[in-house]
Amino acid sequence: MAALTLTQLGAALGVAADGIDLNRALDGETQAALRRALLDGLVLCIRGQSLTPQSYLAAMRGFGEPITQVRQASRHPEVPEIMILSSEDRDDAGDGKRLVVGAHWHSDDSYKAIPCSLTMLYGVEVPASGGDTQFVNMYAVYDDLPAETQRRLAPLRVVHKYDSSRKGTRVAALRPEEAKEVPDVVHPLVRTHPETGRKALYMNPNRMEAVAGAERGASDALLDALIRHATQQKYQYRHKWRRGDILIWDNRCTMHKANADYPKAARRLMHRIIVAGTVPA
Ligand code: OGA
Ligand code: MN
Repeated sequence: MAALTLTQLGAALGVAADGIDLNRALDGETQAALRRALLDGLVLCIRGQSLTPQSYLAAMRGFGEPITQVRQASRHPEVPEIMILSSEDRDDAGDGKRLVVGAHWHSDDSYKAIPCSLTMLYGVEVPASGGDTQFVNMYAVYDDLPAETQRRLAPLRVVHKYDSSRKGTRVAALRPEEAKEVPDVVHPLVRTHPETGRKALYMNPNRMEAVAGAERGASDALLDALIRHATQQKYQYRHKWRRGDILIWDNRCTMHKANADYPKAARRLMHRIIVAGTVPA
């Protein structure tokens, strides 16, 4: 096996790892180097993989504890921890129409009391062009706020809900038993990353409902202003997919969005895994 090489992807975030074959167990040193690359780069792309669903799951255990995802209909038939994300997805529990998951800025799982820490997407089939995934570095977004604003935001908490009135795109309908798993939750607006100790703005423009205890108009104005600040180009990296990429991102310090701009006939098939996180604090 060639030695691990790491290459920076974007100026704001993103790192690529070449020379890795996840069909073989990684030695401790290589696993630690990938973990460090992810913590420093926020988004890690492991290139050129060719894995069965079972070996993909086994490899991702090196990064955390995989957990099953809420929508049962998208689970992989053999490996339930894998969610199938496809250009052919439909809103199966809702109107049955085509649905693009994650088309507005968000951080995965923020509607849960304990959101996942990492998300992995394995590009099994990717369009020749289009279908990029965009990311934002939420450490930098926080660091650039004036100290006075940082002080004002420090005590604030935000209500997140699965189907927010502020959402920017449709969300998949849930079956009644799935909806019961995800009551509204409250998270801090500024969180401290449990591994790096760095502060990040914790936002999900698609799932935030309102600042807890604030008047609605003031809450909307604040959230809108913070989203405008956070989504500036200078904080972004845009990933162009190659078949065999495994992209791993840290939801504790990033936001991301999908782009459904590829031709209707093109296929895009991703195998998605999420790993357990901790209560945001
Ligand atoms: C996700 C997601 C983006 C994409 O899987 O959580 O938002 O580009 N995916 O498919
Ligand atoms: Mn997502």
